[in-house]
Amino acid sequence: MTSSVTVHDTLPEDHFAERLHADVRAGLTATPKSLPPKWFYDARGSELFTRITRLPEYYLTRAERQILRAHAPDIATHTRARTLVELGSGSSEKTRVLLDALTAGGTLRAYAPIDVSRTALTEAAESILAAYPGLEVDATVADFDQELPIPDGPGPRLVAFLGSTIGNFDTAERATFLSRLSAALTPNDAILIGADLVKSPTTLTRAYDDAQGVTAEFNKNLLRVLNRELDADFDASAFDHVARWDERAERIEMSLKARHGHTVKIPALDLEVGFSQGELLRTELSTKFRRPRLAADLGRSALTPTHWWTDPQNRFTVLLARPTERTR
Ligand code: SAH
Ligand code: AVI
Repeated sequence: MTSSVTVHDTLPEDHFAERLHADVRAGLTATPKSLPPKWFYDARGSELFTRITRLPEYYLTRAERQILRAHAPDIATHTRARTLVELGSGSSEKTRVLLDALTAGGTLRAYAPIDVSRTALTEAAESILAAYPGLEVDATVADFDQELPIPDGPGPRLVAFLGSTIGNFDTAERATFLSRLSAALTPNDAILIGADLVKSPTTLTRAYDDAQGVTAEFNKNLLRVLNRELDADFDASAFDHVARWDERAERIEMSLKARHGHTVKIPALDLEVGFSQGELLRTELSTKFRRPRLAADLGRSALTPTHWWTDPQNRFTVLLARPTERTR
């Protein structure tokens, strides 16, 4: 008999009815207009992201996998983790490299993926359970902007936050997130963060504006989500996909740019939203890091990096950090 995964759902009843409504009302009535990226990830959005990870221009996933393959045994030795928690786990594909090393190290008992995308989470958890018999797989649907349902044990716990998803926060959100994460750890626990590094603007903009247009589809998927959930009448063909490098903030800003002036109706919110020609709706920030900036951000949240690894081309970093020892 094959065992099945238990998926805990911590999203409140009002997740779509209230939070999406509140985010859309606030974001589309603000100047400039923006929406949080978590709403990309319905089943189609998660599939499109998986396609992005295989694009020739999107080097991030390959670079991170390369680092994990080279250093997962070190990560297993340093952490001796019995529980691997993963925030924003998505398809959990790269995670297998960590699961293999922690299994080989003889410590791993449980894997706890956490993601806002129920379909991606359930599929991933089921395939991990099938591939790692005997591993306890404890999946949770949650919005990590709201809560961090990190299971109690068994410890030590390693909390992985891969894929440079940390780059999708703005500076203030990142500080809040890292402080909440730090507060949820005991001194024996560790965190593993994957972060994309600053590099040539051409390489960066190509990674977010691929030749096949998959990233454009991913970006426009947000409009499909709003049409479905809010009965809105966004016309995806009235917008262009835009990915711009902001040199000062060192981040890619992904937006949808109105091709012409028009009005969108959002009946569920009793709202009409006007777009002028060329107006941008910002859909995602993707911050790129330098090591000192990331170390300072971690330090301010009482986290001390202990190891940094990069790929041979220095495109991406994976770092291990622990709660900073408090002196009395
Ligand atoms: N870790 C995977 C997936 C990265 S894509 C990788 O490295 O390839 C980002 C993932 O984070 C998606 O699966 C998305 O559903 C999830 N996510 C985005 N915002 C979230 C939020 N606020 N709470 C929980 N999960 C979130
Ligand atoms: C999930 N996140 C880290 C991706 C990124 O690179 O910022 C999402 C993405 N957006 C466009 N392409 C990929």
